[in-house]
Amino acid sequence: MKILGIETSCDECSAAVVEDGDRILSNVIATQIPFHAPYNGVVPEIASRKHIEWIHTVTSEALEKANLKISDIDAIAVTSRPGLSGSLLVGLSFAKAISWSLDIPFIAVDHMLAHLYAPFLDRGQGKVEYPFLGLLVSGGHTFICRADNFNDITVLGTTIDDAVGEAFDKVAKHYNFGYPGGAVIDKMAQTGDSEAFRFPLPSLHKGDHRYDVSYSGLKNAVVNQLDLFKKKENFTNEDIASCFQKTAIETLLRALLNAAEDTGLSNIVAGGGVAANSYLRNRLSKHSNLRCIFPPLDLCGDNAAMIAGLGYHYLVRGERSSLNETVSARVSGFKKKYP
Ligand code: KG4
Ligand code: ZN
Repeated sequence: MKILGIETSCDECSAAVVEDGDRILSNVIATQIPFHAPYNGVVPEIASRKHIEWIHTVTSEALEKANLKISDIDAIAVTSRPGLSGSLLVGLSFAKAISWSLDIPFIAVDHMLAHLYAPFLDRGQGKVEYPFLGLLVSGGHTFICRADNFNDITVLGTTIDDAVGEAFDKVAKHYNFGYPGGAVIDKMAQTGDSEAFRFPLPSLHKGDHRYDVSYSGLKNAVVNQLDLFKKKENFTNEDIASCFQKTAIETLLRALLNAAEDTGLSNIVAGGGVAANSYLRNRLSKHSNLRCIFPPLDLCGDNAAMIAGLGYHYLVRGERSSLNETVSARVSGFKKKYP
C-alpha cells in the first residue's frame, strides 16, 4: 500500500511516499527556517502562508522522487494535531481535497505518536519492538512514555512548565546565538566547558514527579545570570551553551532513568527535534544496560515519512477519517499517566 504523507504542523512543509508502513520511497522536507530566523522564532502567520505557497510543489516533488503519479497513491495520511492551527489546516485541507477528488481514503494522524514511530521506518521494523520507553522531546512537548503498541502509549512523565526544545530556543534567542536554537547550542557546546558554571537540577525526582521535568527555572537562571558568568575569567558563549545543555539533558536523563528503573523497560526510543542532540545521544549510548534507538537525523525532526508510516497501521485496520475532521493544537493520542 503506497501512502502519501503530509506534514505541516509547524515550520517544515513536508510530503512523503511510504510503502507498507516502512519503506520510504521519498521524503521531501522544505524548511521555512530562513523566513523565521529574523524573528528568532516561528511566526505562525508566516508559517501558514508558506505552507499554502509550497504544499503543492512539495507534494509533486515527493511523487516525482518516488517515480509515481498521484493516481498510484492508495491513501493519504496527514498530521491533524498537535501544532499551529493555521499551519495544520493547510495540510489537512490539502489532504482532504486529494482524498475527495481521487476518492481515496485519508487518515488524520497525531504528530507526537508519529515521532515515536520514526525508528520503525526504512526497514527499522523488527529491529524495534514493543514495549519500550519513549522519549519524545521537541520544541513544544516533552514526554517520557511507555509504548505498548503504535496506538497504545501512556504518558509517565512530562514537563511541568516549558518543553526542553523551547528552553534551548529561548536561551539561544536571549543570547542571540542564532536560530533554531537547539542545533546552534549543540554545536557551540562542543567547544565549551560544561563545568564552567553549575546549574542545579530541578528538585522533581521524588514521589509523583519521578518522571517529570521542569525547564523554566533553568531557562531563567541562564538568561538572568549573565553578570555572574562574566565574573568568571575567560567565560565564553560556548561555555554558557555547554553548561546549559548539560543541565537540560541531565534533567531529562534523570527522569528517563527513573522510568527505566521502575518499569523494568530497557529499550528506549527517542523522537522529536531534541533527539538529534549529540550530548543526549552520547550519554545514552554509554548506558550498557539500556538499548537506545534513535531515528536517523533526518527523521528526528518534523517529516511526512513518519506520518505516512504510522498512518498505514490505521488504514490497514480499516480506519478512515471523515471530511469533518479538524485540527487541534493539543496532543490527543496518549493515555493518562501510568499506572
Ligand atoms: O520535532 P521538531 O522538529 O518540531 C516540533 O514538533 O517542535 O523539534 C524542534 C525542536 C526545536 O526546539 C529545536 O531547537 C530542537 O528541536 N532541536 C534541538 C536540536 N536540533 C533541534 N535541540 C537540541 N539539540 C539539537 N541538536
Ligand atoms: Zn515534531
